[in-house]
Amino acid sequence: MSVAADMAENGTANGAKAPWRAVVLTLYPEMFPGPLGASIPGRAAADGAWALETIDIRSFATDRHRTVDDIPFGGGPGMVMKPDVVDAAIAVAIARAPEGAAVIYLSPRGRPFDQDRARALAAGPGVVLLCGRFEGVDARVVEARGLEEVSIGDYVLSGGEPAAICLVDACVRLLPGVLGAAESLGEESFEDGLLEYPHYTRPAIWQDREVPAVLTSGNHAKIRAWRRDEAMRLTAERRPDLWAKRQARTQH
Ligand code: ADE
Repeated sequence: MSVAADMAENGTANGAKAPWRAVVLTLYPEMFPGPLGASIPGRAAADGAWALETIDIRSFATDRHRTVDDIPFGGGPGMVMKPDVVDAAIAVAIARAPEGAAVIYLSPRGRPFDQDRARALAAGPGVVLLCGRFEGVDARVVEARGLEEVSIGDYVLSGGEPAAICLVDACVRLLPGVLGAAESLGEESFEDGLLEYPHYTRPAIWQDREVPAVLTSGNHAKIRAWRRDEAMRLTAERRPDLWAKRQARTQH
């Protein structure tokens, strides 16, 4: 394969697949890698399955006070991140990210993040993540750059950084080879549109509570059926939204 073709296919010139890449734009680079440096994502990064880069938005400020925010037009509380500064930072992040990386702005107004989106992002080359602080970024940058707005839930964080960490964690564990057999995805929550069944370990009786008898029966077909029933029962009970979605999907 020519070097150019190899670069186009793998993002490298030597046939190796380029690692999945997250480029994070933040005013608080010291928040990273944080939890992404430990456990599964930490090990996967050390193994070269993915790579993280942070870009300090403040380094794109142009005045001597290194101003990144300003008062909102129309009045009101809080400050807004300046479009010129944020846009310059995004330009550099896109240049550093693999071609075709999703460019995402973490915001409570975004589309709710879910396992399907995590799967799609993990299947791509990587992500550029813009973390907002204060009241958020000037809406014109979001529009001009066509940023995808993503929320990790209906609550307001102090900034997008913890949301970016959640998003990256959810993607990285889906990359090929990251989870060992012992941690496999097979029966995890959401893999089948269901919450996962409950788990038990030894001792078989703890504080007078016994584990469900079927789990110690040695009958694997029965155990599978029980787990499936529990997963369905829990999903219908706790997450009628997921249950309805799954019912709609399995009915045709
Ligand atoms: N920034 C602040 N709150 C957020 C949320 N819930 N999701 C994503 N980004 C955020």
